[in-house]
Amino acid sequence: MKIAVLVSGSGTNLQTLINRLHEDKTSGIDIAVVISDRRKAYALTRAKRAGIPTQVIRTQDFENRIKFDAEISKHIERYAAELVVLAGFMKLFQPPFVRKYRNRILNVHPTLLPAFPGAHPVADTLRYGVKVTGVTVHFVDEDIDSGPIIAQTAVPVLDTDDEERLHARIQIEEHKLYPQVIKWYAQGKLKIEGRKVIVK
Ligand code: GAR
Repeated sequence: MKIAVLVSGSGTNLQTLINRLHEDKTSGIDIAVVISDRRKAYALTRAKRAGIPTQVIRTQDFENRIKFDAEISKHIERYAAELVVLAGFMKLFQPPFVRKYRNRILNVHPTLLPAFPGAHPVADTLRYGVKVTGVTVHFVDEDIDSGPIIAQTAVPVLDTDDEERLHARIQIEEHKLYPQVIKWYAQGKLKIEGRKVIVK
């Protein structure tokens, strides 16, 4: 199955997907293209090193967000990707894009959703003072970090944590959970019933 991975930053999740899926020929999963909304995203270097085609698509180069989304869509189609995998991609899609790829966009978020959605989830987690946080992999819908939840892993918050330390421990779990969920998707193991996702 061909997938498109969308990134904005460092790309540690992308690296895990390259190592555990793309370069493992038994996985049946091929990263057909990596799309970034930032020219300087280190994730682009990781993709190029693995010989994966890259594309930079920036919001400021388009008249509006519908046209930005349409350009992303054009590349997803061009590379015949069946699944859109957001890996630290920090832009929100407009409803037409979400409708077009309904139940075909995955996201990883560094909290136990619905707690702490949005752009600064780990800082918000520490500020609130919760004792347990974690990772969520979910389908993307029209709202922010609100689509049907596929899988979660809990991570304890320690008294000694700062944002960097806590995020690093959460990322260890992201790197295990995300490739697993993508494999489940490719194997047709995910069944969506309303807001509930059942792993068959
Ligand atoms: C990840 O921790 C991911 O959960 C988070 O961005 C980081 C990207 O790291 N995503 C979000 O906060 C989405 N709302 P990476 O570039 O090293 O994979």
